Amino acid sequence: MADRPHILILGGTSEAVDVAEELAGRCSITYALAGRTERPALPADCKVRIGGFGGARGLAEWMEQTSVSVLVDATHPFAAAIAANAATAAAATRTPRLKLVRPAWMETPGDRWRHARDVAEAAQLIGDTAQTVFLAIGYQELAAFSGLAKPRFVVRTIDPHTRIPLPGAIHVTGRGPFTIRQETGLLQRHGIDVLVTRNSGGQATHAKIAAARDTGTPIVMIDRPPLPDGEVCTDTLCAVSRVLDHLR
Ligand SMILES: NC(=O)c1ccc[n+]([C@@H]2O[C@H](COP(=O)([O-])OP(=O)(O)OC[C@H]3O[C@@H](n4cnc5c(N)ncnc54)[C@H](OP(=O)(O)O)[C@@H]3O)[C@@H](O)[C@H]2O)c1
Repeated sequence: MADRPHILILGGTSEAVDVAEELAGRCSITYALAGRTERPALPADCKVRIGGFGGARGLAEWMEQTSVSVLVDATHPFAAAIAANAATAAAATRTPRLKLVRPAWMETPGDRWRHARDVAEAAQLIGDTAQTVFLAIGYQELAAFSGLAKPRFVVRTIDPHTRIPLPGAIHVTGRGPFTIRQETGLLQRHGIDVLVTRNSGGQATHAKIAAARDTGTPIVMIDRPPLPDGEVCTDTLCAVSRVLDHLR
């Protein structure tokens, strides 16, 4: 066991769990999480580390102390701070780093997307014309819409939150994945005329995009923050084989 290479996987996505489990038989894996989720999915046969490292410097120190051979950043496409820290720490310690990121959703015929750089721009794009807006974004980002007086908001969260920072918002709870039928039902039931979402990519949350297309509902699509330069994989197979290549 002791002489197996040590791989650090920065996790928080289903792809991260898959890569960790694929590599666990061949390497010693530490699976790291920020600690935001109460009951996160965890990979079998891996060490789990919960909590931040203390910025890029703390991450670099931890990687040196634990002799990390390859760093896999498999965090969510919108987790920009940890992605930047991973790039800096890997460069500082001269450790191979691989970014695993699921492909973004692409606009197809029938979609009606407007693109926003961030939530603030998304709030501007909603403008004065929308009547009822479905905010399919994280709880932490809702406040960006609090300055808008006119539209009625529908907000969906996984956990029941008592304080939604948007007075009068309709609050629904639910854990995906949802079907296209369920998402179409939600859009129609509430008379949604704009959907705001981030381009997270992946199948698990895609049904709302398909439902918006089917119902002709416009989307304000918050585009992804740029990735740091470096090696990128968009699927688990690629990530596993690149890690093994680095260990040869
Ligand atoms: N952003 C999203 O929408 C989203 C969606 C689904 C899942 N997630 C997951 O939730 C976690 C946090 O996302 P975020 O957007 O809050 O990140 P972030 O803004 O990029 O990171 C903020 C800080 O959280 C710590 N951190 C983040 N990911 C970590 C990890 N995997 N292991 C250890 N520390 C981590 C780091 O703290 P230190 O500087 O102290 O090291 C980082 O500086 C990530 O694991 C991500 O994959 C995020």
